[in-house]
Amino acid sequence: MYDKLPVPGRNDACWCGSGKKYKKCHAAEDDRLDQLYHEGEEVLPRSLIKTAKDIEGIKASAAVNMGVLDLVGERICAGTTTMDINEWVEEYLGAHDAVSADLNFEGYPYSVCTSINDVVCHGFPNKEDVLKDGDIINVDMSTIKGGYFSDSSRMFCIGDVSPERKRLVDVCHDSVKAGLAAVKPWGHLGDVGAAVNKVCQDAGYSVVEEYGGHGIGVEFHEDPFVGFTTEAGTGPILMPGMCFTIEPMVNAGKHDITIDRENGWIVRTADGSDSAQWEVQLVVTDTGYELLSW
Ligand code: MF3
Ligand code: CO
Repeated sequence: MYDKLPVPGRNDACWCGSGKKYKKCHAAEDDRLDQLYHEGEEVLPRSLIKTAKDIEGIKASAAVNMGVLDLVGERICAGTTTMDINEWVEEYLGAHDAVSADLNFEGYPYSVCTSINDVVCHGFPNKEDVLKDGDIINVDMSTIKGGYFSDSSRMFCIGDVSPERKRLVDVCHDSVKAGLAAVKPWGHLGDVGAAVNKVCQDAGYSVVEEYGGHGIGVEFHEDPFVGFTTEAGTGPILMPGMCFTIEPMVNAGKHDITIDRENGWIVRTADGSDSAQWEVQLVVTDTGYELLSW
């Protein structure tokens, strides 16, 4: 097999743990992947394909992840500090037998990312950052529960937001929906980024190139990297059971970014323009996709 992983006999148990015979389970898909590989397509290893048990675990983790974001949505308002959000997150996770995947990830010092206005991503919760009327903020939450990872983020509009900011938030959301619509088993991952990018470019916005989505499930960031400025028909083949995020960072101005020199984390637009991001997590199915976290 192209990925050098063992192939069971046709009457043996499938490698995926379903308990079914290989010939009744992944044999046909594996043949198809092998053929695509030999035709020169980029095919990712079968180790990225999630089992039914994995998906169950990811869903339990995602329920907590979305519970946190729901809670933030109920409470967030003008006067909230981003450190308040960090505290709500820790309290909720603790009460639900879960921990933040962000905390200590490559040295990240908080339990959530809070990115206001021109902050593109990885904003630090801070007692001094008080949300005010007209702000837009991305709250990016990532949870580990029972060894499984979930990851999604939402935008929140504080009070009366300008039409320009509202439009940026909405177009970014539309671009994620367009990306989802492009997720097709046996299609290309590049189709997803192309669909996202088109919506953003048509609206006069630009998509950040340095950061993207990622495989996820048994680890926080798995293969593949999911870019959002890709060409349709390029990149890896989408296999049923692959689990990844769609999370474009969309700038009102130019796509260029800067990284805070002091802490090496906080990313801002280079031109000071506003930036928005929504993130969803999905699994590719036999017919399209299933949303796991949003
Ligand atoms: N949640 C981010 C993502 O969507 C990753 C944040 S890493 C952190 O992939 F360390 F900054 F938290
Ligand atoms: Co993510």
